[in-house]
Amino acid sequence: MRILLYTGKGGVGKTSASAATALRCAELGYRTVVLSTDPAHSLGDSFDIKIGGKMTSLAPNLWGQEVDLLVQMDQYWGRVQNYLQALFAWQGMDSLVAEETAILPGMEELACLLQITALADSGDYDVVVIDCAPTGSTLQLLSFPEMARWYIEKIFPFQRRTIELARPVVKRLTDMPIPDAAMFDSVEELVGYLERISQLLSDSAISSMRLVLNPEKMVVKEAQRAYTYLNLYGYAVDAIICNRVFPTDLTDQYFTQWKSAQAENLQLVAECFDPLPILRAPFFGQEVTGMAMLRQMAEAVFGAATVPGGAGDPTIRHYPGKPQEIVRRDGHYVLSIPMPLVERDEVHLHRSVFDELIVRIGNWKRNISLPIGLARLDIDAARYEGDFLNVYFEIPPEKAPVEAELKPSGWQNLRNRLRGQS
Ligand SMILES: Nc1ncnc2c1ncn2[C@@H]1O[C@H](COP(=O)(O)OP(=O)(O)OP(=O)(O)O)[C@@H](O)[C@H]1O
Ligand SMILES: [Mg+2]
Repeated sequence: MRILLYTGKGGVGKTSASAATALRCAELGYRTVVLSTDPAHSLGDSFDIKIGGKMTSLAPNLWGQEVDLLVQMDQYWGRVQNYLQALFAWQGMDSLVAEETAILPGMEELACLLQITALADSGDYDVVVIDCAPTGSTLQLLSFPEMARWYIEKIFPFQRRTIELARPVVKRLTDMPIPDAAMFDSVEELVGYLERISQLLSDSAISSMRLVLNPEKMVVKEAQRAYTYLNLYGYAVDAIICNRVFPTDLTDQYFTQWKSAQAENLQLVAECFDPLPILRAPFFGQEVTGMAMLRQMAEAVFGAATVPGGAGDPTIRHYPGKPQEIVRRDGHYVLSIPMPLVERDEVHLHRSVFDELIVRIGNWKRNISLPIGLARLDIDAARYEGDFLNVYFEIPPEKAPVEAELKPSGWQNLRNRLRGQS
């Protein structure tokens, strides 16, 4: 199963590239679904077929859906939201404000992520193509699972068992709503989903992110920032799709200046993203809508179709780069986070009391949940080496972690607490 996710600046051709990819996959025989998570859906326009919130058949082997946020949110979040609302109301907010506040930021992201997980785990599809919103919203979407884990840990800072023991006493003393078993179950279920989506998206054998851009300076710069943050969050970008390139045989005088600017920017694209492959699509003489144009776009980006797994197959991993990993080197464990393109003086590292390593670049922050094995070691150094930020944890002989302790444990801890197992 493969998840192919397309993002980039507004209007660069994300939807066209996603639709072309999905059609090619379906024509190669993969059972394919293309999902739009951009609230301003335009997937239907690409196929020239009305899609909407229900799964719609678009061609043999090909289905499409435009995520309906309200339906998704009702399905999964209702119970948690009710509890938050009650909690806020108890704290003295009037109920109207409480109702508003209980619509937490991130609900839309959550709805999309839950739908991606459901499709990926349904067993109905070989390929899930995701047509994302422009870069900023996509980064918000992809950082959501980690942010939510942090939130839930703080909102439910208690053990299920503790709450059960304290319930009769607390009930007599206050009218504060106390989470009941059903509430713990629903939060636990939510955590399960978030953990799963986080696993799916950060497994580079399953998920590949693709950045769509045009050879224009501002567009390239935005893609460059997105690339850095995707690496920071541990997601694998495997290709750049450079769309709307003027054909070289274009002789019209009017385009001379445009062409030379593009030539310069194509060079910039190569410099910025090397060694990622850069797949190109020309500026077509017409809009990319309807099956024939989508086939033409796929032909340009991926080359002629051959056989599944062969040349021209969009599911191929175009670049095998890895997200973060832990390696043992020179008496240390090294947590290695790929960070190409980053301004080197911009990164800040902190350790929190919650066994987390907080990496901050500009306005973006990542809380890396340290595996138990690393959490009890001291950080010796943090250095940029090549395109990686390497954090060195010293291993004193008596504290050498065992293999199992080197896997991130944040999700497991949270789940155990909600289940009442410490
Ligand atoms: N290579 C191309 N040649 C000609 N027209 C193109 C090309 N790529 C995309 N288009 C057209 O440009 C418009 C914008 O493309 P598209 O909707 O794919 O971009 P997008 O990145 O998804 O935009 P948004 O950010 O609004 O979602 C569409 O009308 C599409 O048909
Ligand atoms: Mg779009």
